[in-house]
Amino acid sequence: MGLHDRELRATAQAMVARGKGILAMDESNGTCNRRFQALGIPSTLAARQAYRELILTTPGLSTYVSGPILYDETIRQTTQAGLPFLQVIADAGMIPGIKIDAGAKDLAGHPGEKVTEGLDGLRDRIAEYYQMGARFAKWRAVITIGNGIPSAACIEANAHALARYAALCQEGGLVPIVEPEVLIEGDHTLAQCWQVTDATLHEVFYQLHRQRVAYDQMILKPSMVIPGKDCPQQVSVEAVAEATIRCLLKNVPATVAGIAFLSGGQSVERSAAHLNAMNILFGDQCPWPVTFSYARAIQQPALEHWAANPTDVAAAQQQILKRARCNSAASLGEYSHEMEREVALV
Ligand code: 13P
Repeated sequence: MGLHDRELRATAQAMVARGKGILAMDESNGTCNRRFQALGIPSTLAARQAYRELILTTPGLSTYVSGPILYDETIRQTTQAGLPFLQVIADAGMIPGIKIDAGAKDLAGHPGEKVTEGLDGLRDRIAEYYQMGARFAKWRAVITIGNGIPSAACIEANAHALARYAALCQEGGLVPIVEPEVLIEGDHTLAQCWQVTDATLHEVFYQLHRQRVAYDQMILKPSMVIPGKDCPQQVSVEAVAEATIRCLLKNVPATVAGIAFLSGGQSVERSAAHLNAMNILFGDQCPWPVTFSYARAIQQPALEHWAANPTDVAAAQQQILKRARCNSAASLGEYSHEMEREVALV
């Protein structure tokens, strides 16, 4: 039994409490600037601060969001008025999390494949973030489907790193979000995505077991089993829901504290509809809560509104709240297209 067992279990359960999900806002500066540039927002520290303040001060956010995942720059920032973001989060009753990996880098000897770095010095960084007040962390591994890839070596290296990270997190008191993302980019079919996701999850849980990670003190953040963006054979919402849940039931131990999906570049409506269908059709078969940990599928409409109307923070916050509310409803199997037509949802 570890030092932090009880706290970790309680935190993990709170992260996926009924009707709640996680808000990913941990884009690295590179990714954040890329999304800003696409909309004509300057790539500055001040713009990133203002945008993150907009998100975190959204009134009512904690009704639907258990906690935000922050980036290293963000966790150290304050509002323009000088209130630390960590205080804003605590005042709202949310749990702060931190992206802790050092990014996906080219895997030597394996063209087109990536391995996530960041294990060196990780124990010390975990201790620092815990001391600051963070209570969970995220590490994202990336698996690409393409001609002859992924290789077994890529899946194994990424799963091993995820397991080493998760064990270190639990030792240091942070609930690990274990994120093996099978990318949606490509023309692969649903069946190919199933096969790769199945192999990836199998290896991830083998490695987690080997490194003695406690499943009831972690959250799995998977991608959905879905045809590639450029696949000519797209499938129904129900087909994605069924393939995804069957793949999870086959590979994920029942004691895992929760499943919180990434959106991966799906449209905001699809991201909600898929999560909703999983809960309606298969909720009674799932031993774990099935919810969201979306970035783009929560932020994108707000970011677009803010880019076009930089002084209209309140309306951008309404967009954040609307997506959070729709996805919260989806986590309960209560989402409907009518919700999308309502302009103001509060
Ligand atoms: P998306 O929901 O935009 O895929 O982001 C989730 C995430 O945190 C990726 O690491």
